[in-house]
Amino acid sequence: MRVYVTAPGKVTLFGEHAVVYGQPAIVASIDKRVHVFAEPRPDGTITIEARDLRVPGVIVTYKEGEVTVETEYGLVLPAISYLNKAVELTSRYLDSRHGVKLVVRSEMPVGAGLGTSAAVAVATIAAYAYSGGYELSRDEIARLGWEVEKAVQGVASPMDTSITTYGGFMKIEYSGEIIERQNLGVNGDLPIVLAYVEREFKTRDMVLMVRDKLSKYPQLYGRIIELIGEVTRAAEKALVRHDLHELGLLMNLNHGLLDSLGVSTRKLNEVVYAARSSGALGAKLTGAGGGGCVIALSQSEKLETVETIMRFLSEFTMKTSLGSEGIKVEIEKSS
Ligand code: PMV
Repeated sequence: MRVYVTAPGKVTLFGEHAVVYGQPAIVASIDKRVHVFAEPRPDGTITIEARDLRVPGVIVTYKEGEVTVETEYGLVLPAISYLNKAVELTSRYLDSRHGVKLVVRSEMPVGAGLGTSAAVAVATIAAYAYSGGYELSRDEIARLGWEVEKAVQGVASPMDTSITTYGGFMKIEYSGEIIERQNLGVNGDLPIVLAYVEREFKTRDMVLMVRDKLSKYPQLYGRIIELIGEVTRAAEKALVRHDLHELGLLMNLNHGLLDSLGVSTRKLNEVVYAARSSGALGAKLTGAGGGGCVIALSQSEKLETVETIMRFLSEFTMKTSLGSEGIKVEIEKSS
């Protein structure tokens, strides 16, 4: 069977890092998706075609007649390893292996903290299973996706794989293997803009750095983690009331706490402060930090101005609606 699967990217609105230590996080799907097309191959081989896996940055330097071009192309290879691992773990789970041609495409840049790796993982899991004539529940897809992320990254919470599978606005909390997901049932018309600045550190480095600080200074860093949890719980209420002013305030608080964990950078802070001074109600880094994305919330009429100012200090900016549908599977039955 030929199968076409899409899955959305995401932004973390509140609670990144603290979620790794049992605190809740609030995350929402965005309107940009990863597409995976699967076609069975009778010769049993597995081929992967990665098309349009856009990389965030290209830097061209002219020096004494020499031109050097640096890209973040290195980010494409990890994306491929998520595909590989997804096929491996899904065939092990199904106890069946079949040949397949996989073509993957992304509407968003990889490695920017928008959850592309989780979207690639869950879309590949579903595409591989369905192309072999198997069906998987959303729960199974999300769980296998989490296994893929853990296998490739070493450390990962189930946050990204959950939101890309289910979509919407989600509060997520986990402890060990127990995951609690709550659909917050709010609509997607939050006026937000995202800005990307070059990543200096990987998610894994950031997570391990926080873990290290927490184990050295549990009294201090443990309090910050708890406080992020408190902010997230307050944000859940503000989101449901659609109280943009309070949400902005809580985003600012959350950013300050992330900065004190040490995961922000000078560039991220510059974008955050520029967004606020151009009229945003709140701004924070989103995702693991060490570079990556900033999310700003603004009243709709000021959104353009906020975006323009943020664009000056970043590689690119992007408006998105939130809460789009989770994984979608289309099966073309063979004739
Ligand atoms: O950079 P991202 O989007 O993969 O976000 C990582 C979020 C963390 O909470 C820092 C880690 C995790 O696995 O939840």
